[in-house]
Amino acid sequence: MPQVTLPTGSSPTRGPSPAPGGRFRPALAFSTLTPWFDVVARVAVRDNTLKAQLADLLSLRPGQTVLDVGCGTGTLLLRLRARQPQARFFGVDADPTALAIAARKAAAAGAPLTLTVASATCLPFADATFDTVTTSLLLHHLITAEKRQALAEIRRVLCPGGVLLAADYDAPRTWLERLAFLPVRLFDGFDATEANAQGELPTLIQAAGLDDIQTCAELPTAFGYITIWRAQRASAATLL
Ligand SMILES: C[S@@+](CC[C@H](N)C(=O)[O-])C[C@H]1O[C@@H](n2cnc3c(N)ncnc32)[C@H](O)[C@@H]1O
Repeated sequence: MPQVTLPTGSSPTRGPSPAPGGRFRPALAFSTLTPWFDVVARVAVRDNTLKAQLADLLSLRPGQTVLDVGCGTGTLLLRLRARQPQARFFGVDADPTALAIAARKAAAAGAPLTLTVASATCLPFADATFDTVTTSLLLHHLITAEKRQALAEIRRVLCPGGVLLAADYDAPRTWLERLAFLPVRLFDGFDATEANAQGELPTLIQAAGLDDIQTCAELPTAFGYITIWRAQRASAATLL
């Protein structure tokens, strides 16, 4: 059964909202719209393809621990669990409404997930807890300082040798792509999407202390390119 940790008195939020560790931008700008996220994502960001590509890039082993940061309604976690039911899956999101949907989906699938309401900028886990961290379409919800904090937190909770897979909007290359990305920028905020628009995510991932950054896939969508990057926390042997 899914296990969900919700803060006492949590309630659906509207617009940038208080969350454990700070304010956040819900999946569709308003928490009241979160129940529509799965439908919108399937059309707007080719969500099935994106999540399948992310799952294809991981070969999880039994017993491994996986954290999805900004897991939203749990779609990626459930897809990963279907591929490797013997791994252990954790999700955090600042939006209790999204996690309640994730919990319902997990219960329907009979899939144990541990879901916690928390900010990506302050992950409630000990250092070196996870073999793999994924984050999909979260980073363009965070202003650059928060992106730095979230990536530092991801590095902290990754085991030495652990892998990060991050998917998010990348810099538009043509005026048409800039135009396509404009609704996302208007919707989620010019401040939060600025580093994406400038193509700075790989630099920020590297600045957080993750290595070996590779571009694994590029997915054109109606609202611009989504790139999947893979990065690694240096293994203990490398650190010696
Ligand atoms: C566009 S949705 C993507 C959801 C999911 N990762 C997916 O790909 O389906 C972005 C998610 O990030 C969450 N979020 C925004 N700011 C956050 C923060 N500071 N900490 C944790 N989650 C956050 C939102 O609540 C939302 O669920």
